Amino acid sequence: MREKLEAIRAAAVAAMENADKAEELEALRVQYLGKKGELTAVLKQMGKLSAEERPVVGQLANDVRAKLEAAIEARAEQLARRAMAARLLAETVDVTIPGAPRKLGKRHPMYQVLDEIEDIFIGLGFEIIEDREVELAEYNFTKLNVEEGHPAREWTDTFYFTDDSSILLRTQTSPMQIHAMETRPLPIRMIAPGRVYRKDEVDATHSPMFHQIEGMAIDKGITMADLKGTLNTVVRSLYGADTVTRFRPHHFPFTEPSCEMDIQCYKCHGAGCPTCKGEGWIEVLGAGMIHPKVLEGCGIDSKVYSGWAFGFGLERLALGQYKISDLRLIFENDVRFLEQF
Ligand code: PHE
Repeated sequence: MREKLEAIRAAAVAAMENADKAEELEALRVQYLGKKGELTAVLKQMGKLSAEERPVVGQLANDVRAKLEAAIEARAEQLARRAMAARLLAETVDVTIPGAPRKLGKRHPMYQVLDEIEDIFIGLGFEIIEDREVELAEYNFTKLNVEEGHPAREWTDTFYFTDDSSILLRTQTSPMQIHAMETRPLPIRMIAPGRVYRKDEVDATHSPMFHQIEGMAIDKGITMADLKGTLNTVVRSLYGADTVTRFRPHHFPFTEPSCEMDIQCYKCHGAGCPTCKGEGWIEVLGAGMIHPKVLEGCGIDSKVYSGWAFGFGLERLALGQYKISDLRLIFENDVRFLEQF
């Protein structure tokens, strides 16, 4: 029996020292030390030994068990260390490899133009206000002196929400004049940029949604000269000190007198070219002195206070500034297009 124990010890220890994986080692533990293991099988025959031999062989069996357990533990530790080393090697981080570049987005070109315009007006002491796009017809039309039945109120041009034509998507930013007059103390100096909506088919120069910027100043003694001075200051900041403007009479229901402002073509300086369609001038905005009826409708005494207002399309300005030929590019949000600005 002693020889048998010695043989088990030698074979087991050798096998354990050569085990390559934790699973192999576990299999060996079961093979020798498990309930049906080889060592256990030998111990079960202890009963057959004589009374003198039993403690000696018992002692030897315990020794062998301890040796096997120690061999398992030692090998398990070795295998764990080896696995860790392999893992560290595999997961080594090369800190000298350049990072994966992350693509940064940026401001849409049209909003870059808007930012620039807002900065200029802030410098002139104007407040910037943004407000609702869903309006009452009362604010989009009636309070702006556009009576019921006026062609501008037609269903063919306006997105109405209700059959009685009382709620709509604003067709212009001019209702912001009314909101400002009703909510702010005088004097008022404000611009109101935002989206407006009209039933237009999409093409190179039209979109059912576009942006306008409304501007307004009300104080005692405001005249058309203030309007011209302000607008000239703004376009000269935008396009250069030598920018030439021209004001033509026009009609809007809510201003009197009304005008349109053109800037001399920045490409041909008035000679006529494709950019200005041979005109030499580019139409930029509508403006005028706020109609006394509109002021009075908002509770402002038109004998004491006067004011001007203007409104223009932001897309058209951005198209011109960046020499973009098709309005649709502004809204398609194709990164390859947007990245160019
Ligand atoms: N709201 C007018 C338009 O959409 C522009 C305008 C604004 C004209 C303010 C005069 C004063 O055409």
